[in-house]
This record gives sequence, structure tokens and C-alpha cells, in this order.
Amino acid sequence: MADTKKLFIKTYGCQMNVYDSERMAEAMGTEGYVTTEVMEEADMVLLNTCHIREKAAEKVYSDLGRLKPLKAEKPNLKVGVAGCVAQAEGEEILRRMPLVDLVVGPQSYHRLPAMAKAAEAGEKTVDTDFPEEDKFDHLPDRPKATIRPTAFLTVQEGCDKFCAFCVVPYTRGAEVSRPAERIMAEARGLVEKGVREITLLGQNVNAYHGAGAEGDWTLARLVRALAKIDGLDRIRYTTSHPNDMGDDLIAAHGEEPKLMPYLHLPVQSGSDRILKAMNRKHKAEDYLRLIERIRAARPDMMMSGDFIVGFPGETDAEFEATLDLIRAVKYGMAYSFKYSARPGTPAAEKTPVAAEVADVRLQTLQALITEQQRAAQDAMVGREVSVLFEKPGRLAGQMVGKSDYLQAVHVAAPDLRAGDLARVRITGTAPNSLAGVLVGG
Ligand code: 5AD
Ligand code: SF4
Repeated sequence: MADTKKLFIKTYGCQMNVYDSERMAEAMGTEGYVTTEVMEEADMVLLNTCHIREKAAEKVYSDLGRLKPLKAEKPNLKVGVAGCVAQAEGEEILRRMPLVDLVVGPQSYHRLPAMAKAAEAGEKTVDTDFPEEDKFDHLPDRPKATIRPTAFLTVQEGCDKFCAFCVVPYTRGAEVSRPAERIMAEARGLVEKGVREITLLGQNVNAYHGAGAEGDWTLARLVRALAKIDGLDRIRYTTSHPNDMGDDLIAAHGEEPKLMPYLHLPVQSGSDRILKAMNRKHKAEDYLRLIERIRAARPDMMMSGDFIVGFPGETDAEFEATLDLIRAVKYGMAYSFKYSARPGTPAAEKTPVAAEVADVRLQTLQALITEQQRAAQDAMVGREVSVLFEKPGRLAGQMVGKSDYLQAVHVAAPDLRAGDLARVRITGTAPNSLAGVLVGG
């Protein structure tokens, strides 16, 4: 078809960007664009960007710089910048990088097809509005092409917490929850297309309070309603704030088998003084008590977290407090970052910890996390878990899937296909995955 145009999307950052990229690709489908994995053959290159740390944001500019030769070779190539850098920097991106044709923020990407059309006509556009209309009402239905067994589904966006280091409240705006029935309909549509696991996404997902039957629904209520969908086998949600971990959600973890026993619950620091300076609005002890309650409801809960080292003013003793908290929780997985000053956030005004000190702290913390992750993996050996298979492995007849605890598991299973769920006994571990055999297979 002469009309088919190719779209290459590069996604940076979090899972919500992964979801947004899929929705943008679907929206561009209505304009005759199909996605390609090969940047060189694209008619449009779209960078869906992340602003959370300086490195992520600067990477966008170096990637744009690297597009110059391609644009010189293909003058009709259109270049778009979407996501949180687009939101934060807007027009500035066009000034710094004249090869860019359009800049679209995360709340206005339903307007991307119209912007692409303008770009084709030689007009540059910037849209970083927080529009009145809800973008989800203006996006096309999810097409049949979605046949992967796992899918993301955004239920809530934005954040009202204003942690002192974080740009999210500025780039993604205030907390907004989608109406429950819309989410239910999107979920049913995904399941009809073969999706068996849904991860509910939100910057503050456990603060979800979407309009539903009989008033606002909590996340727990939404989870329980989703669990009634036949053919949907697993539900996850991310990312949560400790202060929004409601009693009903904790109870759902104990009562709803489709809700997976893996919880990403960032705490950032184990020092009360630093938590206060970060404006996290809870103490280390509150977090530890919360995890006790969660584990009382669901004893096999695997915890994951986020940590920032080198927040302005962090002393050695305060860093040690973070290590103590990690030792107390025993994480199955965790992400850790060196503090990065972000323009416009309150913490950016303060004097940072010396880079060498932060480097050493990051290494120390990561070594502890790796140790805990290994211990969690080793403890799986001999246990039976369910595995949702996602794709063939590297060896003939091998399939790779995820355990209940989100660990990658490799299994010899020549008769199984992506989307199959099976019981697996774990027989061994590799650095980032597990090996197992089908039970009774
Ligand atoms: N510097 C370093 N890490 C940050 N994060 C958020 N903002 C910053 C920052 N300015 C981390 C937090 C958050 C995760 C998504 O990114 O740990 O939970
Ligand atoms: Fe950022 Fe804090 Fe909101 Fe998480 S809770 S998105 S870290 S402001």
C-alpha cells in the first residue's frame, strides 16, 4: 500500500511510557502508520522520553543529535518528542534541536495524529496542555494485534505527593483516576484478545479512586471486580506509596488469589530525617509495620522497592539506616539511584552530597540488594510456582515465562505456547532467572 508510513518509537523510562507508546502507535495506526523496529526505514521517529533523572533527560538530546545524519539522508523524515521531557521542556526542544517536528506531552498524545499530519505539511507543533478532555476517550479501541499474554493498563496518572526530589507532579500533573467502568471495559477487551495478566499502572496507583457504581472505587474494589473476569488469571499493580496502602487492599492480597504476591513499594530511605527532608510523610518504622501487616495477610509476599542514595545532606549514619531497613525487609528485588537534582524541585536548591560519596553508597546498597535477590532466588529452588509463559527461550523446545513473583523462569516445554499457564517446580537459578520443570510433565 503506497499510503503505509512507518513509525519507529523509542521508549525511555517507566512502564507507563511503555503503555503510552503502545497507545500512541495505535492512534497513529488511524493515520496509516505501522510500527517498525528498524529506525532507518521509518518515516517518523518518535522518542517517548523520561525526565525523572538528569541522565535520562540528557540521553534524549544525544539521541536526537544522532538522528541528524538520518534526517540529512531522508529530508522527509519527521521527528517527534513525546513524554515527560516534552512536557517539561516544550518549545525549548525545538530551539535546541531544530530537526524536531513535534513535541507532545503525556496528557495530549491523543492529538498526535493531527500533529503528525501538520508535520507532513511542514508545520511544527508543540502541545503540552493538560486538556479538559480525557485523552483516553479520544484514543482508538485497542486493536486485535495485542496478542501478548501480559498487558499494562493505566488506571491513574499524576501525583499529588510532591516528594522533594521528584518531577512527576510537574510533568504528569495532579492525580487523576480513570472511571472504573472504562478500565473494566478496556480489561475485558484485552482478555478477549488473549491477555491473561494485567498490570494496573499509575504513578500513585494505590491512591486510585475512580468513579464507579455506588461512588468512588478504591484500587482494592477495582482489583476484586477485575478478578471476576473469566480468562484473566493474574493481576498486578505498580507503583504504590506506603501512605496509600489501604486496609482493603492489604485484605485483598490475603483473599484474592489472582492478585499476585509481588509488591513494588518504594521507601527511598531508611532515615527518618531524610524521609522528612524528602517530604515522604512517613517514618521508616511506619513502613516496616506496614510490611508486617502485608505479610500477615500474604506471608509469601515478595517485596520490591526504590532507593535514592546521596539525597542532599545525607550523612553516613543516615545511609546506614537505609541499609538497616533493607536488611529488615529482605527484598526480592529493588531499584536504586544516585540522587539527581531536578530543576524546579525543592531539593534541587540544596547542596548535593559529593559524587564520589554517592557512588560508593550506591555500590554498597546495590551489593546488599544483589545478595538479597540471590537469596530470594535460591529459596525458590524446590518450590512449585505457577508460570505464565510469554515467549520461546533460546534453546529448542524451551519457553520463558514469569513466576507469581515476577521472576523469569526457563522451562523445557515444547508443547506449550505463549499465554499458557502451568505449574513448574524450580530446579535451579541463574543470575537473573530461574530454571524449572513442568510438574507432572
Ligand atoms: N533522583 C534520583 N532518583 C529519583 N527518583 C525519582 N526522582 C529522582 C531523583 N531526582 C527515583 C525514585 C522513584 C523512582 C521512580 O525514581 O526512587 O521511586
Ligand atoms: Fe514522585 Fe513521590 Fe509522587 Fe512517587 S510519590 S511520583 S516519588 S512525588
